[in-house]
Formats: sequence, C-alpha cells, structure tokens
Amino acid sequence: MKKLLSIFTMLLLASLSLFAKATIVGIAMPETHVLRWTKDGESLKKEAEKRGYSGLVQYGNADQAQQNQQIQSFLTQGAKILIIGNINDGVTSVVEEAARDKAVVVAYDRIIQGTTNYSAFITFNNYKVGTLQGQGIEKALNLPAATTAAPKYITLFAGSPTDANANFFYQGAMDVLNPYLKKGVLKVVGPYPETYKDTSNFQKIATENWSGPLAKTRLENLLNNDASKITLDAVLAPNDTLGRAIIEACKADAKYRSKLPVVTGQDAEFDSAVSIKNGEQYMTVFKDTAKLAEAAVILADALAKGEKPNIPGAILADGDLKEIGYTGTGYVATYLLDPIGITKENVNVPVDAGFYTAEETAKLK
Ligand code: GAL
Repeated sequence: MKKLLSIFTMLLLASLSLFAKATIVGIAMPETHVLRWTKDGESLKKEAEKRGYSGLVQYGNADQAQQNQQIQSFLTQGAKILIIGNINDGVTSVVEEAARDKAVVVAYDRIIQGTTNYSAFITFNNYKVGTLQGQGIEKALNLPAATTAAPKYITLFAGSPTDANANFFYQGAMDVLNPYLKKGVLKVVGPYPETYKDTSNFQKIATENWSGPLAKTRLENLLNNDASKITLDAVLAPNDTLGRAIIEACKADAKYRSKLPVVTGQDAEFDSAVSIKNGEQYMTVFKDTAKLAEAAVILADALAKGEKPNIPGAILADGDLKEIGYTGTGYVATYLLDPIGITKENVNVPVDAGFYTAEETAKLK
C-alpha cells in the first residue's frame, strides 16, 4: 500500500510538473549589428513571460543558415509558438517544418517570403516609413520652392535587397520625391531607380544585410567620383545604421564639414537621436518596438488559443497596403502599426515613450 501510494505521488508530481512547464515561445531575431533587434528580442521575451510563456531568444548574426538551426532547436525543445524576424527567404524550409509541427509562426517586422504556410505577419506600415523619409527631405530642402535653375542634389540608398521591407521604404520615399525629379528641381547623383521594381538599378543602391560599412564605402566612392563636382543637398538613407555611416563618410570630406546634407533614417536608435539633437542627422522614423513586441505576442497568443486577435493600435493591411502582406506566392494576414517621423523638434517622443534606458534618456534631456 505504502509503495502504491508513493508511486501515485510520484506520478502526480510528474504530471503536475508537466503542466507547470510553460509553453515555449521561440524568438528568432536576425542580427545584432543593427541595434534595434537586441531591443526587440528583449521586449518579446518580456511580453511572452508576462503572459505565462517561457521565452527563448536567439540572434542569427545575419546568417540564415545559423538562424534556421536556431529555429530548429526551438522546435526540438517543443516550442509551440515561433516569432521570427528573418534574414532572407532561406527561412522558408524551417517555416514549413514548423507548420508540420502545427506551431504558430508569426513573421515579425519582416515578411517571410516564398510561402504562405504560416500564421500571420506583424509589422509597421512600411510604406508610411518611406513616406515620412521622403517628406522629411521635401520639407528640409523646401522642394516645392526649388527651381530648375538651381536644382537640389540627392543620392539614394536602399536597404537590404533580401528584405522586402526595403522595397516599401523606398517606394514610400520615391512617391514623394519622384514628382520633383520629373520637374527637374531635384537631381539624383548616382543610380536612380524610379521604383524598386527597376531591379537592375535598385540592386545598385541596395545595401546587403543593412551593412553600415558597405553604405559608407559606396558613398565615399560617389563623393570622389560622380559627386565630386557638386554638393549633395540630401541623402536618402533607409535606416539609422546606414544614415550614420553616410554622415561619417560626409564628415571626412572637407566640402561637408560645415554643412552636412540632409540625411534620413529609421529606428530612432539612441546614437541617431543624439545626432539629431546635435543637428547632424536630419530625421529618423520611430517604430516603437516595445509596442510591436507586445502586439506580436498578443497576436501569437490569440492564434495559439484559436481566438480572434484583437491588437490595440494595429490595422489589418487592406486596399493599397495589402501588398505589404504579399509573400511572392500569396498573401498572409498582415497587421500594421503606425510609425512616427522624428526631427529635432519632437525628439522627445521616443524619449517620453520610454524607448531608451535611464542613462540614455538623461543624455537626451
Ligand atoms: C528592417 C526593419 C528596419 C531596420 C532594418 C535593419 O527590416 O524594418 O526597421 O531596422 O530591418 O535591420
């Protein structure tokens, strides 16, 4: 009897601990050389744990093979939810595996291309990110008043050719700038893809893996060649990492020492917020990644429970925005959050949102 009882107790304990073991959410972030992703990883873990999950985070070092291994290992450990910021469409094979395992897969910030065999995509309105960058340049150069007699000069940069977001950022910006280019009051130095669909020119301005050093070298070459006889008024930079690399290249050129071109950005990284405050980088786009992380976990949690997601602040991509959810083989349910343009005038917005650490905040006050 005693023996039976103790076996019973053991079984009871074992099943209790089975129940107590929290469901794993595997969080796969693409890289750490762009600062934001570290924050994304931390916020996602926090949000998952707030809801009783166990959050595991891995960073892929901009290497899809490495990220695939990390995702496979999440699945082996029994993850029921995957939140993935992918590097390129090499991720498709593991996403298919996850589908076979019936795991909920949410593409985080960047769409997973080449398959629709996953649950949903959550991101910001990436077209609007580009619009805000284009409008920043339009305003800073006062393009409505520019003339063909004294045109303004710009050089164009795009993000990683493997990241579909880069297309929308670019298109949003160019839909603002193209009319001025057509009028001849704004001129492009270097390659000019009118849209991202002009792939041969787009490849020339795209920046593999969002690499700052690559952007810096490209601008240095341009300053010494095509742009040697003119002064650039603006550089379209798709994110802060590239924006700061571009500013560095300009600063090394005597011509720009007293007046930098208008340089855009995205992500409201701390270093860029400082640069904006100091009057160097002109603008950035604030995407509150803490909100995105929260929204992604709310979404994944609802889908895992078979409930209809109700995500505060997000809209379902529809109409013209539907393209943001196109994977190349079809559409996935896509939720969009709203980005905010930041210049010197409102650099307090990300600060007040609690986007920076206390130490960083003190430096921005
Ligand atoms: C994009 C993302 C941007 C930027 C970039 C570099 O996918 O939407 O915010 O951070 O990656 O990692």
